[in-house]
Amino acid sequence: MNKYYAKFSSFGHAVPKKILNNFDLEKMVDTTDEWIRTRTGMFERHIAAPEEAASDFAYPAAKMAIESSNIKYTDIDMIIVATISGDHAFPSTACIVQHKLGLKNIPAMDVSAGCTGFIFAVDMARQYIENGIYKHILVIGVEILTKITNWKDRNTCVLFGDGAGAAVVSRAEPSDISKIIDSMLWSDGSQSEYLYLAAGGSRMPACQKTIDENLHTLYMEGNKIYKLAVRSMSQAVEEIMKKNKLSANEVDWIIPHQANLRIMEGVADKLHFPMSKIIVNIEKYGNMSSATVPVAVDEAIRAQKIRRGDIMILVAFGAGLTWGSVLARY
Ligand code: ACO
Repeated sequence: MNKYYAKFSSFGHAVPKKILNNFDLEKMVDTTDEWIRTRTGMFERHIAAPEEAASDFAYPAAKMAIESSNIKYTDIDMIIVATISGDHAFPSTACIVQHKLGLKNIPAMDVSAGCTGFIFAVDMARQYIENGIYKHILVIGVEILTKITNWKDRNTCVLFGDGAGAAVVSRAEPSDISKIIDSMLWSDGSQSEYLYLAAGGSRMPACQKTIDENLHTLYMEGNKIYKLAVRSMSQAVEEIMKKNKLSANEVDWIIPHQANLRIMEGVADKLHFPMSKIIVNIEKYGNMSSATVPVAVDEAIRAQKIRRGDIMILVAFGAGLTWGSVLARY
């Protein structure tokens, strides 16, 4: 028996003001609204301004989450930010958010797990809370992928958007119905070449050649990743249900990473879940990587779709490769 349980106290989110829709993209690359809609389910996405960076959205998302809970800013014991497009390579975006929130003397760190980052960060927060070390942990998923996008490559530039989602993960009181029941994580580094950023790290530091060859932008073999995403997200949901002896009709909501509507439909189909139980907002935001899951959860809570006591499974797949799921009673 666990001594303590963790729960989701609250969520928040923030996205840039500027919106780029499929018709805008038609003027930029050889694509059509029809292709993007039918292949991905996306219509518009939010794009950060040149002067905006990840912490500019992580901070308001965090504020919204904290103010939606019944804790004070100073009750936060730790900050974990999931991102692959933080303000800088270092310091961590979590340290920058800590400073913006006016918090001192608490640990703050970033986690890199591609689009699965938020799931990994929640799993970590859960461990600290179940072990009795901390009571309230701020978990944020934030990405500004449009700054590492090749705007001349129609294969990738239509897919991504920017934004941040945050959650306060707290110790559950014995009287609480809310709790994080379980979380499971997987990685497979042998297939990392399907989705990566070649330059800017110690393998290939920035130089004129890396700029000329566009190696500071995201590379993805979309159709290879597509098949792996359907298989891995289905497995992550199936295994967490099996481990916790849950059947599909006992799960109220699945909140999947929003990479492609067809991937979400593929997962629903494989698991025999009706699409009415799958939270989808890809049409408005595109793929915001580690931000998609918390943004989708926050919107669904505020729309009173997800209610206290509902059983939900959060699931994601991304660069690494990484995948994972979180089972929670909200
Ligand atoms: N407009 C028009 N045509 C296009 C576009 C575009 N924007 N992009 C590609 N095409 C063309 C291709 O050139 C190709 O043409 P060809 O047949 O003449 O060669 C054709 O469309 C089909 O291309 P595919 O890549 O096979 O298209 P697919 O149906 O697989 O859709 C997509 C591509 C949307 C990228 C899909 O593969 C996908 O969603 N992949 C998974 C993405 C994902 O899950 N990423 C993981 C997380 S991201 C992260 O971790 C940062």
